[in-house]
Amino acid sequence: MMKYVFALTLLVVGAVAAVQGGVLVMRWNDNMTQTPRVMPGERAFAMPVGSVPRAGGELYYPKEEREAAALRKNPVPATPESVKTGGALFTIYCVPCHGAAGKGDGPVTPKFVPPPDLTNADLQKGRTDGYWQSYLGVGGAIMPAYGEALSPEERWHVVNYVRSLAQR
Ligand code: HEC
Repeated sequence: MMKYVFALTLLVVGAVAAVQGGVLVMRWNDNMTQTPRVMPGERAFAMPVGSVPRAGGELYYPKEEREAAALRKNPVPATPESVKTGGALFTIYCVPCHGAAGKGDGPVTPKFVPPPDLTNADLQKGRTDGYWQSYLGVGGAIMPAYGEALSPEERWHVVNYVRSLAQR
């Protein structure tokens, strides 16, 4: 008789330990993922007063806020030096798809989606410098993002260069 009581007690203790262990594992997993947090780029915060930017100090505009980004004025005057700087960067990063003259006939295009003709007058008129500067940073539907390769200022130079393409 005592033998059975002992076995039963052992069984109950084992079951309780198993349930508690399961709860521990579940909470551990859960706590690791279900915490209140903001993912990178999820929200754009206004900086607290007195913050010192590491570089540039420009707000980051995600794709969803392109309209707001489009309203910004181009702070970099389109001097010959700026256009030259932009042109050098364009040759490195953009010519493979957009072609040397921006016509959308780069060497990659036969095997890729052909990009639009950047010298097109309607496109040039329809987009602000701010729109394109932001576009280069976050990319398009297919076009890659260059926010990591090009600083905000470099992107303004490239926009100045793309503007100069239309005038040729
Ligand atoms: C891998 C190919 C590729 C590269 C590299 C590339 N683009 Fe594009 N670009 C595209 C495609 C494709 C589109 C059409 C829109 C889309 O699908 O994203 C486009 C669209 C554009 C537009 C028009 C956006 C609009 O609708 O107003 C501009 C301006 C532009 N690219 C500039 C650049 C510049 C400047 C660079 C270099 C920093 C660059 N692109 C690099 C493929 C590329």
